[in-house]
Amino acid sequence: MKVAIIGANSDVAQAAIPLFLEKGCEVMAFAHKPEELSKLNCDVKTLNVRNLDLSIFDGYEPDVVVFTAGRLGENSPLTNPALNDEILEVNFTALVPIVGYFAQQFKQKQKGVIVGVSSVAALRGKSSSVVYSAAKAGWDSYLAGMRNYLNKDHVRVVTIRPGYIQTKMTKGFQLNPLLTASAEQVAAKIVKHSLSGNRNVVVVKAIWRPIMCIVTSIPERLFKRMSL
Ligand SMILES: NC(=O)c1ccc[n+]([C@@H]2O[C@H](COP(=O)([O-])OP(=O)(O)OC[C@H]3O[C@@H](n4cnc5c(N)ncnc54)[C@H](OP(=O)(O)O)[C@@H]3O)[C@@H](O)[C@H]2O)c1
Repeated sequence: MKVAIIGANSDVAQAAIPLFLEKGCEVMAFAHKPEELSKLNCDVKTLNVRNLDLSIFDGYEPDVVVFTAGRLGENSPLTNPALNDEILEVNFTALVPIVGYFAQQFKQKQKGVIVGVSSVAALRGKSSSVVYSAAKAGWDSYLAGMRNYLNKDHVRVVTIRPGYIQTKMTKGFQLNPLLTASAEQVAAKIVKHSLSGNRNVVVVKAIWRPIMCIVTSIPERLFKRMSL
């Protein structure tokens, strides 16, 4: 199987690449800092998702495309418009044309798998990550729409919803170990559900299911008073 990873500088992607290679996959890592991937035994191409020229994919026909790019950034929704744009683009809007490109290819071939890493943050707008959670909500909803759109074409679209992950994105954060997955745990889920199965949405740590049930069921008039 040929696997493309978009945003391969991610710690999660770097944990997933050796697992894909162990399964005999041919991996093409698209990374905006390709030199960081020199130790991994896979092909690497330079790709900054914010500066996209789709012709980079010409003639390339993967079976699976995995999206791991993301930017959390500091939470400054009122004071940092440039960062807000970056967060929206890297987590959502810049990925849309890439998904569209491969969706078209997969639709023609009537097979293929698109795997997007979303977040439980997509499920409710939070004061601690206003723009990030909005971007993930857009991305999560876009993946759901594409899953629906491509269903009859035998193209699978899988949404991975991790809770917290111990990666460079959360460096310095005090994370509750019960709620936190390692990059390797998330990578194992990505690889498993990329290569087989029929799951649509994968929650990495089961404990997040009841938590998200509660969080999404709190009435907005109460939720807006909570500092989440
Ligand atoms: N860590 C968490 O708690 C958590 C929770 C839920 C969901 N997620 C999601 O999981 C995915 C993987 O994140 P992670 O935890 O592995 O964090 P990460 O290591 O920071 O990975 C995100 C990667 O996206 C890359 N990126 C940023 N801007 C880019 C651009 N313009 N073009 C291409 N790549 C770009 C970053 O590169 P740099 O090396 O320049 O930063 C970084 O390597 C992301 O979608 C993230 O939002 C993370």
